[in-house]
Amino acid sequence: MPRHFLDLSDAGGDAIAAMINDAIDRKAARAGLAKGKADHDVPLAGHVLAMIFEKSSTRTRVSFDMAMRQLGGNAMVMDAASMQLGRGESIADTARVLGRMVDAIMIRTDDHSKLEEMALHAGVPVINGLTDKSHPCQIIADLLTVVQHGKALPGLEVAWVGDGNNVLSSILEAAGLMKFNVRVGTPTGYEPDTEFVGQARARGSNITLTHSAVEAASGADILVTDTWVSMGQEHAASKLAAMAPFQVDDGLIASAKPDALFLHCLPAHLGEEVTQSVFEGAQSVVFDEAENRLHAQKSILRWVFGQL
Ligand code: CP
Ligand code: NVA
Repeated sequence: MPRHFLDLSDAGGDAIAAMINDAIDRKAARAGLAKGKADHDVPLAGHVLAMIFEKSSTRTRVSFDMAMRQLGGNAMVMDAASMQLGRGESIADTARVLGRMVDAIMIRTDDHSKLEEMALHAGVPVINGLTDKSHPCQIIADLLTVVQHGKALPGLEVAWVGDGNNVLSSILEAAGLMKFNVRVGTPTGYEPDTEFVGQARARGSNITLTHSAVEAASGADILVTDTWVSMGQEHAASKLAAMAPFQVDDGLIASAKPDALFLHCLPAHLGEEVTQSVFEGAQSVVFDEAENRLHAQKSILRWVFGQL
């Protein structure tokens, strides 16, 4: 059976810790290497990753491509619309064809069941590059960022404010696995996926659900938000109005701990979910977080290929 990375639970807490440590080591080992050079070792030499995008991407696309190159392998990027997939070829047949040629597949799609269908038929590792349900690769980078800024994961108080979306679902999943707590502040009607809330609680995390941004952010170690309108969603005026009290501004971040970090998976919409002042401020680590997508992808790739 290939090792798939459809959600964080596929790896589990020990493997996630191993990924974070591997990413820290490889990131440090690259210090001093010129950009464009492969890593000192090339553990994925000869391996090829096929990437299928049904939605836009900058970070996921470039970080996986660069990760494969720096690990000695290669990646190919395919726009689903220009594949036969876009003319009605099934996911199952696409998976069986690609699986006979490439070594692993990453797919960014809307419906999570398409990802599962791909994994069922590919015969090679399949990686979730974001679905409407979850975004596990992002969270490995986020955890790496938090750890590299000197914060231990167990017992951490993470505050999420805004839309209860796919990124939040993977944070909740990580909370249960890595033993931290999450306070979620959303407008009514935009609460997180109850399956992920229940799973995190069952694993022992304190998950607080509130409709107050300040209540969520108060005393937090980490403050996270994301776009109010995810890819594929309607840009409804009513949603933006409901989200307005959940903007991360100077007042809200002041209610968190003085050394709290601000995270955002990007792309950001300044003036909507976050003000320019917070985004550019001293507590914002969003570009470390973006860079860490590269280092995290390497560890995810090494894990699916059985090297971690
Ligand atoms: N954060 C993230 O997944 O970015 P992209 O949509 O640019 O890949
Ligand atoms: N929640 C966002 C994340 C983008 C990386 C979306 O799904 O569009």
